[in-house]
Amino acid sequence: KTCSLLGAPIQTGASQPGCVMGPAALRTAGLARVLADLDWTVTDLGDLAIGPQTPLPHANPTIHDLAETRAWITILAQTAQEAARTHDLPVFMGGDHAMAAGTVSGIAAHAASLNRPLFVLWLDAHPDLHTLDTTTSGNLHGTPVAYFTAQPGFEAYPPLKHAVEPANICMMGIRSVDPAERDRISATGIEVHDMRALDETGVLAPLRAFLARVRAANGLLHVSFDVDFLDPAIAPAVGTTVPGGATFREAHLIMEELCDSTLVTSLDLVELNPFLDERGRTAKLIRDLTASLFGRRVLDRMTRSY
Ligand code: ARG
Ligand code: MN
Ligand code: MN
Ligand code: MN
Repeated sequence: KTCSLLGAPIQTGASQPGCVMGPAALRTAGLARVLADLDWTVTDLGDLAIGPQTPLPHANPTIHDLAETRAWITILAQTAQEAARTHDLPVFMGGDHAMAAGTVSGIAAHAASLNRPLFVLWLDAHPDLHTLDTTTSGNLHGTPVAYFTAQPGFEAYPPLKHAVEPANICMMGIRSVDPAERDRISATGIEVHDMRALDETGVLAPLRAFLARVRAANGLLHVSFDVDFLDPAIAPAVGTTVPGGATFREAHLIMEELCDSTLVTSLDLVELNPFLDERGRTAKLIRDLTASLFGRRVLDRMTRSY
């Protein structure tokens, strides 16, 4: 089994700086070594970079760093598609969540070349369903899902070649939704399990139902993991904390169930802001959750310390 690590030090989609250090923190936490210890062949592809950009104005004056974010989306889409072609499970280390506009659209192109549908599991406090016209914060990390589902209003982003079907998306952990996003959730019919729903059903029932759909369709499965999916008490290193997030045990259970399914074909680890961390605890937690997705089990955990 082969996986690749690709760093995307993008922070132009967020309001506060720090996500640029995300890939370095995950490497410092030993992500590659942990996955190699689980018998994966790991290739670190290094960090992507964009060159200097000419500012791109937009009718929505709240939008900032549009040219830079656009350039990141372009290079990420190309590189993600290539990484999916050459590795069983590419991992995209962010970087803010605007990067998913690139990774998911690139993976969608890869899926189309295989004639297989792409499914997306979106683990996040936020649905990130703004268009360039409806964002009021101007932070473009709030836009990737609207982009890769081909909503109108993205003339300033790279042209989208392969869209993701809203019916193929499952969101979990949602607990902060803006009015325009709420309307788009009902218009698109995207499956959303907010925290109230997870409190009622637990995480396993909706996850297993979604995985069964992926399997029945012979789909690829991309997992997009935003650090703010987790409760801020265990994961402080994120700029957009929302109280009442997933617990340590819920998050590990999801990752273990994803591992058992063997359906996951690509992964984003996004929004880690090491500048806000406490002695690397969030980076280490993300490393360990990734390890659960790659096959680490409780009985192994007892015999090794990282
Ligand atoms: N909906 C809010 C906004 O548009 C928050 C977005 C947070 N997104 C994220 N990827 N952390 O600003
Ligand atoms: Mn592949
Ligand atoms: Mn997000
Ligand atoms: Mn979020």
